Amino acid sequence: MIYTEKKAYPSKGNTLLHFVNEDSLKTDLFLNQLNKLVNNRINRQIELHNFKGNINEYIYVEGADAYEHIIIYGLGKSKEFTSIKLRDAVAHITQIGQSFKSMSLSLFYLPLFGKEYFDVGKNISLGYELGQYSFDKFKSKEEIKDKKIIKELYIYFENDIPDTFNKGVKFGETLAKGISLTRNLVNEPASHVHPETLVKEAFAIEKKSDGKVTVEILDKDECERLGMGSFLGVAQGSDREAKFIILKYNRNSNDKTQISKVKKICLVGKSITFDSGGLSLKPSKSMETMKMDMAGGATVLGIFDILTKSDITSYEVWGILPACENMPSGRALRPGDVVKGLNGKTIEVLNTDAEGRLALADAVAYAEKHIKPDLIIDLATLTGACMVALGPDIAGLFGNDRLAIKQFLHHAKKEGEEVWELPLYKPYLKTLKSDIADIKNIGGTGYGGAISGALFIGEFVKKTPWLHIDIAGPAYGSHNTKSIISKNGTGWGVLSIISLLSTNT
Ligand code: BES
Ligand code: ZN
Ligand code: ZN
Repeated sequence: MIYTEKKAYPSKGNTLLHFVNEDSLKTDLFLNQLNKLVNNRINRQIELHNFKGNINEYIYVEGADAYEHIIIYGLGKSKEFTSIKLRDAVAHITQIGQSFKSMSLSLFYLPLFGKEYFDVGKNISLGYELGQYSFDKFKSKEEIKDKKIIKELYIYFENDIPDTFNKGVKFGETLAKGISLTRNLVNEPASHVHPETLVKEAFAIEKKSDGKVTVEILDKDECERLGMGSFLGVAQGSDREAKFIILKYNRNSNDKTQISKVKKICLVGKSITFDSGGLSLKPSKSMETMKMDMAGGATVLGIFDILTKSDITSYEVWGILPACENMPSGRALRPGDVVKGLNGKTIEVLNTDAEGRLALADAVAYAEKHIKPDLIIDLATLTGACMVALGPDIAGLFGNDRLAIKQFLHHAKKEGEEVWELPLYKPYLKTLKSDIADIKNIGGTGYGGAISGALFIGEFVKKTPWLHIDIAGPAYGSHNTKSIISKNGTGWGVLSIISLLSTNT
């Protein structure tokens, strides 16, 4: 729980947290007061550790005044302050606080945080909630019995507490719940998450949305009738039936925004509940994390979970999850097979491990034909090549529309989600030429694999503005960071897309 209160000292909580800047460490008034209270013990720590107040640097004293701990945490140069740095610092501190077995934290709202109260409130609460995220579902009680969580965060204000700050805190909590939903789905093993599980999750969102979200499921027969041979081809080796999940966020009908101004956005999430590679089987090391190949779909579900509690009025939002499992079997797609997509194009499948693009080809074509949105955004753990190009933290962004690319980059920057634009370089389309069909599903040159994956999907979008975001790297973290980014499922993308949907520019 986060509480906001008017200044009181000593404040509640057993750990007091104070942020400092590297350029004003010596003149920090609050720090000087604290030093008097605890007989210069903080100064001694500063000297001992040569603490400068650089970003992520911290010192602490124990058993100080009314507190079990006082943490002094560096935020770097004051001119370079952003609420994202504060968010990630709070996330890091919740982890430090847990190791102290601290039950509550308190901090004072500093002038440094500025007056964008909604934004700061949102980011402090994101840091607090997501910093403590862990996936314990499969751990026995014995294993987690000593685990401590920080149950309370008190934020003190010198003057009246701005209403917008409290609103920001609440919104941050809503965002954190949606992101946790995404993380949980990604972290849950493929033994527990099947296409049917994603269907249930979509219906659970519909149920709690009070009419804001409606869900439609196309089963295998319906997909066949519509001609989705590419998507169904991926699914055919598995015992689990494919499900094509469609969600729609209905705007508040009392809203006065002119209907003509309302834009339709369709979010498409790659939803391969397990990617073994199919008959083009992955080596076992590469398969270890492939329960995460539905992270795009889980991101879309996390976004819809947030939409159930929001009042976004400028967009009608659609979500599509072409959900299936990529498995080898006697019924599986063989390298060399030809499938036919919903748009009539024939595809030679030379590598059954390049399955994401096959599922997405039908999903984006469905969106364009049946939903007719103003913008399609697909999120996909599409290629290892994108990780080779950008490393594990950064998503690759492709698109056929400059304005949409610019907008996405703006929102991602604002939300502290790392993304880099990569080119949809048309000359490479020739590598996708097939001898026997309209297109083949791999470039086969061994180079530029993220680009050929994007180009392939682009061939199934005729004229709609479209963004493709390759999240193979950032969807799944390999280590704990000093930020909200978690190990394993991260929920990357939820914040940028909610930010995009929350503004009409
Ligand atoms: N799901 C994988 C991509 C992936 C790799 C995601 C590593 C996250 C981490 C995708 O389906 C795949 O297997 N792609 C192949 C494409 C290749 C066969 C053209 C790849 O990246 O090797
Ligand atoms: Zn694959
Ligand atoms: Zn895959």
